[in-house]
Amino acid sequence: MSTQTQPLIQVKDLTKSFPIKGGLLGREVASVKAVQGINLEIRKGETLGLVGESGCGKSTLGRCIIRLIEPTSGQVIMNGQDITTLEGEGLRALRRKMQIIFQDPYASLNPRMTVGSIITEPLEIHGLFNSKKDREDRVKQLLETVGLRPEHFNRYPHEFSGGQRQRIGIARALAVEPEFIVCDEPVSALDVSIQAQVINLLMDLQQKLGLTYLFIAHDLKVVEHISNRVAVMYLGRIVEIAEGEELYKHPTHPYTKALLSAIPTPNPRRTEQRIILTGDVPSPIRPPSGCHFHPRCPIATEQCKGEAPQLKLTRADHQTSCLLAKPQ
Ligand SMILES: Nc1ncnc2c1ncn2[C@@H]1O[C@H](COP(=O)(O)OP(=O)(O)O)[C@@H](O)[C@H]1O
Ligand code: SF4
Ligand SMILES: [Mg+2]
Repeated sequence: MSTQTQPLIQVKDLTKSFPIKGGLLGREVASVKAVQGINLEIRKGETLGLVGESGCGKSTLGRCIIRLIEPTSGQVIMNGQDITTLEGEGLRALRRKMQIIFQDPYASLNPRMTVGSIITEPLEIHGLFNSKKDREDRVKQLLETVGLRPEHFNRYPHEFSGGQRQRIGIARALAVEPEFIVCDEPVSALDVSIQAQVINLLMDLQQKLGLTYLFIAHDLKVVEHISNRVAVMYLGRIVEIAEGEELYKHPTHPYTKALLSAIPTPNPRRTEQRIILTGDVPSPIRPPSGCHFHPRCPIATEQCKGEAPQLKLTRADHQTSCLLAKPQ
C-alpha cells in the first residue's frame, strides 16, 4: 500500500464536550468530556486505525472530523483549508468529500427503502447525474464495485446478510466519490468469518479509488491488517500513535501494552508478559486528574496523578503520551 506523507487532514486541539442538563431549569450541570485536545494528522492515501475501549470517544472524534457533529473547540484542516468554519455551499461541497460507514448495517439502512433508492439518495442530494437512467446505471455499477449484483437494485435491506448490508453501506458512501471515509467499526457487528471479506473489500477500494480512511475499532487485532498507522485512544485523548508494525512490535504506552497482551496468541511466551487491566474505564464526566490512565496503570507514580502527559516522540514516527516514556 503506497502512502504519501502529505497530510490530507490535520486535527488541531480538537475538543468535544456534551452538556448534561439537570434541575427544573434544565441548566448545564456537568459535561461529558468525550474528546479532549486531540492533535493528529491523517496522510493522503493511508488508513489510520483508531483503537480504544468503548466510550473513549472514537466515534465522537470521527464525527467531529467530518462535521457530522460540531466540535466544542479546535480545528480540522483538510487539504490546507480550515473546514471547521465552513457553512452553506462550502459545507455542502465538503460533505461530498467526506463520508462515513457506520458500525451497525442493520440500523443504518432504512428498511422501507430499496437498495437502489438508498444508494441513489446521496446522488440526488448532491445533484449528481441528471437523468434517472444515468443515476440508475451509476448505482448498478456501484453495486458491482462492492461485490453485489445489479439485480439487487429493487430489493430491501432485510433480504441481505450482515456482510451484504455493510456492502450496501459502503456503496452509499462511495456514491459521491469521496476522498476520505470514516469507517466507524464497520466490521464489529459482523461474524468473524465475514470481517476479513469486508476489510479486504475496503482495502481494494482504497487502492482503486485512492481513498483515505480513518478506521475505528475497539481492538488492535481488527485494525492490524488494514492500517498504515495506528492511534490508541483512552478517555478522550490519544495516548500513542505510530506506524502499524512499529506499534505492534514496540508498544510504549502501558495501555497499548495491556491491549496488545489481551490479544490471544498461539505463542506461549506471550503469557509471561500478560498485563491484565483492572477496573473499568472511568467516567468521562469526571475523568481522573493528571494522566487519565493512572488509576489503572501498573507503573503509575505520584507524579502521574498531578501531571497530564503530552504526546512526544519516543521513537522514529512514534509518539507516546506517558510521563515515564523515554525517547529511544
Ligand atoms: N450525543 C451525545 N450526548 C451525550 N453524550 C454522548 C453523546 N455521544 C457520545 N456521548 C458520550 O461521549 C463518550 C464518548 O462516546 P463515543 O464517541 O461514542 O465513544 P466510542 O465510539 O469510543 O465508543 C461516551 O461517554 C458517550 O456516552
Ligand atoms: S503517565 Fe504515569 S499513569 Fe500515565 S501511563 Fe505513564 S506511567 Fe502510567
Ligand atoms: Mg463508537
